[in-house]
Amino acid sequence: MQVEYTPISEEALLCAELPIDNNRLYNECCHIKDTHEGVVHSNVGGYQSPALFRETVTDYPVLCELIDSIQNIIDTYVNKFTYRSPRGVKIGNFWLNFNDQYNTNDYHTHPHSVFSGAYYIKASPNAGTINFHRTHLVADTEWGYFFDGSSAHKELINMYSHRIEPSPGKLVLFPSYYPHSVSPNMSGDMRLSLSFNSQAVFS
Ligand SMILES: [Fe+2]
Repeated sequence: MQVEYTPISEEALLCAELPIDNNRLYNECCHIKDTHEGVVHSNVGGYQSPALFRETVTDYPVLCELIDSIQNIIDTYVNKFTYRSPRGVKIGNFWLNFNDQYNTNDYHTHPHSVFSGAYYIKASPNAGTINFHRTHLVADTEWGYFFDGSSAHKELINMYSHRIEPSPGKLVLFPSYYPHSVSPNMSGDMRLSLSFNSQAVFS
C-alpha cells in the first residue's frame, strides 16, 4: 500500500538581527512614553503607546531608521515568496510596549494587516517569549490532546505552539492572521518592544 503525506498549509516566521543603536532608541521611546497617553488593547499591564506612523515620528531619527529597516525586511519577505501583491506591502501603524514584571499580552491576531511583527529594544533573559499558536479552532476538536505531548520527536506537525525568546536587536515578522501571545515578563527588568502592522498597496 502506498501512503502519501501532503502538507496542506505553510507559513514562515522571519527572524532577523537589526544593527540599531538600542540605547539611543530607548531614549527616544522614553520621550514618546512621557508625551503620549497610553492605550489598552491586548496588553495586560504596562504601557502601550497610541498608534504612531512614519510621518509622525520624524523628530526621532533612530526610530525612523528602525522603521525603514523593517520596511526593507518586509520587502525582502514579499519578494522571496512572490505573493499576489504587485505593488508591495507598506508598514502602517506601529506602537511601543513597555512591559514590567508579570505583564503579558493575551492571545490575539492583527486585523486589517498583512504582516505584523515585533522588534525588541530591551529584553533581559526570561522577559517572556512570544508564542505562535495554531488556530483557536483546535479547541473545537480533540486535537488539543495530541499537541505538545511527550513525543521524543517534536516536529511542527505535532506541536501546538512555537516560542521565540526576545533579545535586544531581534526582529520577528509573521503573517498578521497567525494567533500569538506573550508570556509574562519574569526577568525583573522592564521589556520594551515595538510592534507594527502593514498593508498591501493597491494603487
Ligand atoms: Fe501582536
